[in-house]
This record gives sequence, structure tokens and C-alpha cells, in this order.
Amino acid sequence: MDKYAEILAMAKRRGFLYPSFEIYGGVAGFYDYGPMGAALKRKIEDQWRKFYVLGEGFGEIMCPAVTPEEVFIASGHVKEFTDFVVECKKCQTAFRADHLIEETGLKIHQHNKETMDKMIAEAKIKCPQCGGEFAEAHPVNLMFNTKIGVGKNKNAYLRPETAQGMFLNFSSLYRHFRERLPFGAVQLGRGYRNEISPRQGLIRQREFWMAEAEIFFDPENKKHPRFAQMKDVKATLVPNTTREPVEMTLGDALSKGIVKNEALAYYIALTSKLFTTIGIDPARLRFRQHEHDEMAHYANDCWDAEAFLDKLGWVEITGIADRSAYDLSSHMKASGVDLSAMRKYDAPRTVERIAVKPKMKELGQKFKKDAGDVKKALESVDACAIGPEGIELEINGNKIFVEKELYEAAKVQETVYGERFIPHVIEPSYGIDRIFYTVMDHAFSRTKNEEGEEYTTLRLAPVVAPIKVGIFPLMCKDGLDKIAEEIEAKLRTAGIECQYDDSGSIGRRYARMDEIGTPWCITVDFDTLKDNTVTVRDRDTKEQKRVKIEALAPMFREKLGL
Ligand code: ATP
Ligand code: GLY
Repeated sequence: MDKYAEILAMAKRRGFLYPSFEIYGGVAGFYDYGPMGAALKRKIEDQWRKFYVLGEGFGEIMCPAVTPEEVFIASGHVKEFTDFVVECKKCQTAFRADHLIEETGLKIHQHNKETMDKMIAEAKIKCPQCGGEFAEAHPVNLMFNTKIGVGKNKNAYLRPETAQGMFLNFSSLYRHFRERLPFGAVQLGRGYRNEISPRQGLIRQREFWMAEAEIFFDPENKKHPRFAQMKDVKATLVPNTTREPVEMTLGDALSKGIVKNEALAYYIALTSKLFTTIGIDPARLRFRQHEHDEMAHYANDCWDAEAFLDKLGWVEITGIADRSAYDLSSHMKASGVDLSAMRKYDAPRTVERIAVKPKMKELGQKFKKDAGDVKKALESVDACAIGPEGIELEINGNKIFVEKELYEAAKVQETVYGERFIPHVIEPSYGIDRIFYTVMDHAFSRTKNEEGEEYTTLRLAPVVAPIKVGIFPLMCKDGLDKIAEEIEAKLRTAGIECQYDDSGSIGRRYARMDEIGTPWCITVDFDTLKDNTVTVRDRDTKEQKRVKIEALAPMFREKLGL
């Protein structure tokens, strides 16, 4: 059995993951989290919140997954959120073209139809199912379609990313953050993508968990106020210029122009720190810059955090994109609602402009009941719209011409306090399920027990371990079990997840705890009756020491940073 299969088998046996709908045969691309899995996932999310909500001071919001079609028309997803698909001419099975190509070990440097067709033909790639030839590649949209309501219903999609919620609420969020940039809003929720051929378990699902941050910057100042705290963080970077991995600090990457702006560099560093905290191995983590034609339709730069996973190789677990003003501009245009921000000047400025002053009597005679609308339009007209003979206006979709005799144009001086602009967005987008799997993969190891038998140890970072302490009475007699139960109750009251276990040999109980990643185990033995101490055993060092019962809760709380 390879490591991937071993992890999935263990995950099922120990209550981390169950394939969804299994009693009906299951459906590819869906997973249930069992009690251990849900706990591990939640602890990963807690750390993400600790970094983004507590650490960065961002606001967490929650928006619906069902989203009316116009949102995704404006965002470009209806047109652009596609993957190239090839279908087998013989058995009609559909595959993602880029995955078929990459599985042969080839690298795709141009993500378009022509390149995919050419590479499939040249590498003589045949259908993995039946050996048949492939038809030409074509784009397929990945969004799940649905309807809102019955009868005269509205087309809708399940969101493929949570990000749109932050863009649609921009004005309210901007006010909430006292109209000061940069600020960030985050959302943790499910995303939906009707993936073409999900064959990689948790890595490629059709319903999965996303934790996204949208940070709004002034495009003239993509500096991060706390970059100094991150400049010495080291990471392995793979820029799209050399395509070679290089280890350096983010401060150096910025000064050498490898990473284009401080905001991107800051979130690469923060991601690296977050991943190290939850137990991802820095030696199996890199940040790869997207090729120009690999980027999503909204991005002008993107660095993927990729983790090396046994069997699967380098896998994207997070995308850190510069979405520029793309989304806010698109929604502003489509909805007609102002989604701009104000750049305040250091001191008020006096500016001169041409102001149009309507002559109301003449306007009334010519435009009658529409004179009020014309007046309003004239007063807000731009100087460059004033022609030698008059001004052309568009009112309620109708073009009208206002002759120069109907208004006066004169220079006026005004005090202005700032100017409006569309903010740029930096987006770190975390796929929680892929991060979850990476944490399992990097923690997974095979160890020998005292009897020389091989078994699995999950070396989870204590902060994410679902159970922190296993508690065993050596035997269920002379009150040892009662003392163990009392310790369990005390630790739970102190906020430490623990599990009492009195079945089987102590060796087996250790092995069960090691397999689910429990960092410490306590054994209550006959010495406990004499001196009120227990044995505390460390999962990784196997070191055992005696600790007073009353010292247990403070000791574990300190180890866990609680
Ligand atoms: P891929 O190229 O592997 O399809 P992507 O580039 O489409 O991924 P993004 O659109 O950047 O991925 O999504 C942000 C994050 O969401 C990814 O880094 C990944 O962790 C996660 N993600 C994306 N698609 C899936 C999926 N089908 N199943 C699980 N997680 C996913
Ligand atoms: N929000 C990032 C993505 O969907 O790609």
C-alpha cells in the first residue's frame, strides 16, 4: 500500500474521513469529516482565524453560497471559469486536459487549446479508461447551476469562491473600517466546483472548504504597515522567470523585484508562518509564481503555496493573488453602484474648474417637465463634455442636446479634500481540505513499538491535534480508573481535549493515541496511590516523566499556549 492509500485507510479507521454517501456507492469528489477529522479541521481553521482575524484585525463575514447569476456574469466566472476538457472518442469519458498531460510528467507552459491538443497528440496520450483516442479540447464551465424560487425563477450558481461576498459588500465594509485602507475582510465557508474528473480524493472535491481574505489597498500604496515583522521570514520561491526554486527572505525577494509588491510579499511570509505553526514541513513547501497564461481571469500576479505530497508530488494548497481593481470595477460597472474609496489629501487643495450654471427660465421653456433632470445633469457635467455649440447629455437612456444659450459656463474655485479611486485587492485563498491533507501527509510516519511492531504515528503539531492527552489507568482496580476519570474531568474543565482509555495493553493504548496524533499520554499506576503522581509520556521523544496530578492542567495549558 502506498502512503496515500495508507493515510486514507487510517483516516477512515480512526474517524478522520469517510467517503460521502458510501452506503449508496459514494460519489467522487465528496467527503465527510468524522469526529477526529472535524476536530483537526476546526483547529486548522482556528489557527487561520488567529492569524487573520486576531493577528491582522480583519473582519469575518458570512455570505450565502447560492448566488444570483448576475454576480458571476459581472465577475467574469460565467465566461471564464472553465477548464479544458477532452473526451474519449470511444468511451466518451471526459478528462481535464492539463491533468492528463501533467500526469505523463510533461510541463505545460501555455494554457490554451492549441497547446493542449498538440501536447496530447505529440505525447500520444490515450484514454486511461479504454485506450481510445481523444477529441479536441474544449472549455467547460465548472460552476454548479441552480434556480432561486419556483415559477418565474432566477438563474443562480453555487459560489466557486467565497471572495465575491467581500466585493459585493465593499461599501459597507469600507464604512465599517472607518474608510481607511488597507483593511481586510475574510470568509470561511464552502465553495463548489463541478470538477471534471475528481480522482485525487480530498485534493479535488466538488464541495470543499475555502478560507479567503480580501485585503483592499490603495493602488498607489501597496505597502504593508507591518512588513518589517515579516521581511526576515525565509521561503522557497519559484519565480516564473527562471522557474528554478530559490530560498530567500521575503525582504530580499522584494528588493530584488522577484515579488512585485510588499503586500504580496507580506502574505507569502504570513502563509509560510501559518503553515509552519500547523505542522506543515517548510522543506516540503514552496511558493510558485503562476505563468502569465495560467492565471485566473481576474489576477495580474499570483503565487501558489505548493506542498510536496507523497505520491501526488507538488500540489497547490493556497493561491495568493493580486486581483488589482478587477472585481470592484466589474461590479461597479454592472450594478451602477459606486464601489470606490477616497484618497484623502494631506491638506485641502484649491482647484479651479469650469462650472455649468443652467438658465432655468430658458430650460423650462424648452424641456418643460424634464427641465429639472436636465438641470441636474448639466450641473454635474465634466468640462471636457462642453462643446463649442452646446452639451450632449444622456438622460434616462435618451440623448439630448442643450444649446450654449441655455446655460453659462464659468471658472470657479473649489476646495477639495481628496480623490476617489477603485481599491486594489490582494487575496490569499486557502483550501482547507488540501491543507488538512497536507498536515496529515507531513505528520504521517511509521514507528516501531516496544515489541518491534511497525505502526503509524501522526506527529501532529500539538495546537492542531484533536486530542491533546490520552489518560489510561494501568488497571481498572484499586481506584486507578476512578483517579484517571477524575484527571480527565479536571483537564476538560481546564479546556484541554482528552480521552480516557482503559481497553487493551498500555502499549496498544499508546499506539491508538499515536495514530490519531495525540501528543501526550498519562498513565495512572500504583505509585499514584502513594505519591499522587502520574507518568506523562511524550509521543515524539517517547520520554516519560512523573508529574504531580495538580500540576497537569497548568503544564499542558502552558505547552499549548492556552
Ligand atoms: P487547481 O489548479 O488545482 O484546480 P485552482 O487554481 O483552481 O486549483 P484556486 O482557484 O486558486 O485553485 O482555489 C483556491 C484554493 O482552493 C486552492 O489553493 C485549493 O487549496 C482550493 N481548491 C481549489 N479547488 C479545489 C477542489 N476542487 N477541491 C479542494 N480544494 C480546492
Ligand atoms: N478566490 C480564489 C479562487 O477562487 O481562485
